[in-house]
Amino acid sequence: MNILVVGGGGREHAIIMKLAESPRVDKLYCTPGNGGISKYAECFDVAATDIEGVVALAEKLKPDMVAVAPDDPLVLGMVDALQAKGFKTFGPKANAAIIEGSKVFSKELMKKYDIPTAAYEVFTDSESAIEYLKKQNSYPAVIKADGLALGKGVILAQNEEEAVQAVHEMIDELKFGKSSARIVIEEYLTGPEVSVLSFTDGETVVPMISSMDHKRALDGDEGLNTGGMGTVAPNPYYTDSVAKECMEKIFKPTIAAMNAEGRTFEGCLYFGLMITPKGPKVIEYNCRFGDPETQVVLPMLDTDLADIFEAIYDHKLSDLKIKWKSGSCACVVMASGGYPLSYPKGLEIKGLDGKGQVEGAFVYHAGTKLSGDGKFLTNGGRVLGVTCTALTLAEALRRSYEAVDKITWDNVHFRRDIGKRALEAHADPLDLYYKDDMEDYIESNGVYLRQ
Ligand code: AMP
Ligand code: GLY
Repeated sequence: MNILVVGGGGREHAIIMKLAESPRVDKLYCTPGNGGISKYAECFDVAATDIEGVVALAEKLKPDMVAVAPDDPLVLGMVDALQAKGFKTFGPKANAAIIEGSKVFSKELMKKYDIPTAAYEVFTDSESAIEYLKKQNSYPAVIKADGLALGKGVILAQNEEEAVQAVHEMIDELKFGKSSARIVIEEYLTGPEVSVLSFTDGETVVPMISSMDHKRALDGDEGLNTGGMGTVAPNPYYTDSVAKECMEKIFKPTIAAMNAEGRTFEGCLYFGLMITPKGPKVIEYNCRFGDPETQVVLPMLDTDLADIFEAIYDHKLSDLKIKWKSGSCACVVMASGGYPLSYPKGLEIKGLDGKGQVEGAFVYHAGTKLSGDGKFLTNGGRVLGVTCTALTLAEALRRSYEAVDKITWDNVHFRRDIGKRALEAHADPLDLYYKDDMEDYIESNGVYLRQ
């Protein structure tokens, strides 16, 4: 099989590496890819959002399958366009990708089909939204742009002033363009968060190993929201009983609801969950693999990913037994200083030559490019996802950070406390040892910056 993967971040690097393990895969293509991906797949200069360009590229390359990984092209209908030209695809069609593309759609779906989520109201004018916020007078208030907003469309307003400002910015100033012309204001929920990615062909849903993202930029969950600064898998808060409850109350009902709406979902459906005192609730759906969740989930997969993609396309997922490795995986994102706001690009990354490589570690590239003389340069906000699998989470984290410490560039930024909360939920002696170690770092470094 030859497979074209659309996208160019750490998630796509992880998908490419897993597909490369398949004895059935001959050639891998990626567009636009990145510096790291280009070592394993032939990369092209077509943007992931360029539907016509990707279709034209597919017609040239004639791959046996095209996997579309990012949200925007899925919501824009890239899978529909590829299927119309006869290509086998992985990823939902636009009418199903709306589950991520519109928060209003997903909230209404959950309400209609009784899927547990935060209570909410929808607004299209700022006056009624502000009146509602004043009447509720409950903070933090959760204010969400309806459409895609690069992961920045959710504001947790701590007081009325912040809430009113967020509403004006979204509805009146269209901060996220059309995406924020409509907003959702919802109930504030508490509890640990769990990401569960699942494979589904619309009939069968197979949850992958659970994971935990770390969305804030700084240690201690401080600072701005980002695309994700690190992940661990499995997520210790996702116990067997929580998993069972999620399957019955959330996963199966969501697949059935999408079918009932004539919007069968095929691909990877991502459930962003909060384990509240009243049980698990959906915080968000994504129509794709998470980033950086994929970087810790796919290394644990013990089944051929190309087989899974094909089974989903053929609606034969129930025939496959999907297996997972035991142990844990951790990913620490190394970002450009300044991310998620502004940051420079083109800085030379040192220490990527693999010398003194840490056992079990692998560096996924998120935003890098290769210079003419073969050096890796930074080329984005999130630059690398330094990942390690090991028998325990503590060991996976220890080795990930050991690998992180071999890599540097000007003003590199990463969190020192990835996995801390997950370790607190664990209790094995290694974990406790590591926790002490981390606390020293956290006391001395609110944010860990290296020159
Ligand atoms: P989202 O982009 O929808 O994943 O939201 C970003 C983050 O905002 C989530 O990971 C949560 O930490 C937080 N969040 C979203 N909705 C709520 C809610 N209803 N209550 C509390 N926190 C929330
Ligand atoms: N890491 C969260 C996401 O992919 O949306």
